[in-house]
Amino acid sequence: MSARILDGQKIAAEMRDDIRKQVAAMKQRGITPGLGVILVGDDPASKSYVTAKEKACEEAGIFSDDNRLPADTSLDDLLGLVRRMNADNRIHGILVQLPMPSHLPEREVLRAVVPEKDVDGFHPVNVGKMLLGEDCFLPCTPHGVVQILARSGVKTSGAHVVIVGRSNIVGKPLAAMLVQKNENANATVTICHTGTRDMARFTRQADILVVAAGRPRTVTADMVKEGAVVIDVGVNRIPDPSRKSGYRLVGDVDFEAVKEKAAMITPVPGGVGPMTITMLLYNTVKSAGRFASS
Ligand code: GUN
Repeated sequence: MSARILDGQKIAAEMRDDIRKQVAAMKQRGITPGLGVILVGDDPASKSYVTAKEKACEEAGIFSDDNRLPADTSLDDLLGLVRRMNADNRIHGILVQLPMPSHLPEREVLRAVVPEKDVDGFHPVNVGKMLLGEDCFLPCTPHGVVQILARSGVKTSGAHVVIVGRSNIVGKPLAAMLVQKNENANATVTICHTGTRDMARFTRQADILVVAAGRPRTVTADMVKEGAVVIDVGVNRIPDPSRKSGYRLVGDVDFEAVKEKAAMITPVPGGVGPMTITMLLYNTVKSAGRFASS
């Protein structure tokens, strides 16, 4: 039987409706949530993500301060902009789009964002709080995965979740979230990565398989247990001369084959992607609320 398709677009639209209402109510109290966005360079995928984030802010009623800087921007100039945003009381969240050009030290830049405005959840203070299960800004993509599971009625408690990929943006934080003792977590978590021997041995044990490897066809049907829930975090551009753009998007999972084996699966596009932006809006509104009450 073919899997139920988990419609991230629909879940995201429902959440964005709630966020829009929350923003409208905050505006009535004189608070306009604001997001500072910084994109350095002209990586095409990053440009399209940032454009989508800015559009989503506008639709939600969130102020966005958009800054597109040339690829040769110096570290001093970039840090200067981050510090101005740290001090700007119109801005409640700061997002520095990754990856940055290689001359810019990612660690130093991400640490320059004050933890109180770190709506990406990448600052070590927020990463530490997340691991400890304390209130913090949760990184948007893994938080989006948790929301898709929860809102689709997938029980994580007691389930074996296997994550493929150990990035700081997805794999590691998702493991930290799902291992917590709360109703949307409480899972047994395994992380597979490029050093894992015989990966299929682990993925076949997954009740819930999350794939964030950054490579098409990392997971094929033979690697999936019958009836598993499969979440595909991958976004890969592959050449497609039949498209006007010259490319199309595919995930990390062999969707057509795996959907015949899984109970539920997220598509690419239209699965996790829209949720990432939604959780960014969510964190920005949360931050504005915190600033208003502090
Ligand atoms: N690049 C890929 N994913 C992300 C993300 O969630 N935040 C930022 N800032 N950059 C990214």
